Amino acid sequence: MMMQTEYIEELHKDDALPSETKDADDGFVLNIDNLKVYFELRKRAFQHAGFVRAVDGVDLQLKRGETIAIVGESGCGKTSLMKTILRINKPTGGTIQFDGEIINDFKKNELKDLRLKIGYVQQDPYGALAPFMDVQTILEEPLKINGVTDREERIQRVRQVLEEVRMTPVDDFLRKFPHQLSGGQQQRVVIARAMILNPILLVADEPVSMLDASVRVEILKLLRALQEEHNLAVIYITHDLATVRYFSEYIFVMYAGQVIEKAPEAQLINETAHPYTHALLAATSDPDPKNVDEFQEVPAGEPPSLVTPPAGCRFHPRCEKIIQGLCDIERPPEFDLGNRHSVACWLFKDRPALREYSGVSE
Ligand SMILES: Nc1ncnc2c1ncn2[C@@H]1O[C@H](COP(=O)(O)OP(=O)(O)OP(=O)(O)O)[C@@H](O)[C@H]1O
Ligand code: SF4
Ligand SMILES: [Mg+2]
Repeated sequence: MMMQTEYIEELHKDDALPSETKDADDGFVLNIDNLKVYFELRKRAFQHAGFVRAVDGVDLQLKRGETIAIVGESGCGKTSLMKTILRINKPTGGTIQFDGEIINDFKKNELKDLRLKIGYVQQDPYGALAPFMDVQTILEEPLKINGVTDREERIQRVRQVLEEVRMTPVDDFLRKFPHQLSGGQQQRVVIARAMILNPILLVADEPVSMLDASVRVEILKLLRALQEEHNLAVIYITHDLATVRYFSEYIFVMYAGQVIEKAPEAQLINETAHPYTHALLAATSDPDPKNVDEFQEVPAGEPPSLVTPPAGCRFHPRCEKIIQGLCDIERPPEFDLGNRHSVACWLFKDRPALREYSGVSE
């Protein structure tokens, strides 16, 4: 069987794009550089009340056909980042290049084209589906909006995509309304709708967190199968590192609007570097079944204010490894640990600290 990377290379060989464009996007479907997304707080009297720095200097690259996860606790900026990629939010600073084009200042028509190329799966499938539309109507709608005027053609595509999301026999589901479906089936319809226009990128924001534990793995496996069948690029957003193990090749860990560690999946789990990632892992591997559906506070203490974030390392008020006089003053740069693994933490200023801290031997 062909490996993922070989497949991508094979695909690029026959790429119909002009060579100039190919050079420009360098195989990246998405290339985000120093992205900032600030929300202005409502002014008090005549005084400026400040900004919520939801995303604050994020770099992120995603190759065609690659699957990445963005992990971090509630409020760290995951959804803000995703909505900016979809250009629902406008970037405050930095650049987003998607499919070879800078999308920061896209106008209405360009945005329409952009959203054709990005499928979006959100957390709450029931909330995402119009309750008065049946499955066929829900799935025909994006086709109608995008000019598929032939009814037969639309229905054929609807049937095809329902088969792809394993809702068979298709005739059992076409005339069902969302309330007649289970949570897992509803999420399959949302995924079918996200896939129906053949996107090149799928963004899944907490796609299984509202589903029963028993169907979560099934949905993640479905997303994985679709990714492989269509060579899709996928961004999987979650607060739960445990589910990432089923799914993503490369993981970005976010804390307070910034990426603090990134690595291939196995590397991140086995050679965890950042103290926050350690805490996140410890919390998600809790074996107590009563904690399975709960997100725990990791570690003790609140995430910082994004209006007035702490100086230096944003994790320093909660960090047991803090180096006083450094961590609380200067923001740690990204230290390269090799193997596509990097970490923003002063403990890794000198590479040997990795072995000392995480017990990794070379
Ligand atoms: N439109 C907005 N206006 C003002 N503040 C916002 C807006 N959208 C998000 N925020 C704030 O930005 C911060 C990041 O929120 P975001 O929803 O991106 O986090 P998240 O990581 O997706 O959290 P969760 O895991 O709870 O979904 C939060 O403090 C949030 O209150
Ligand atoms: S930079 Fe300092 S405070 Fe931040 S995570 Fe590393 S050791 Fe902790
Ligand atoms: Mg969110």
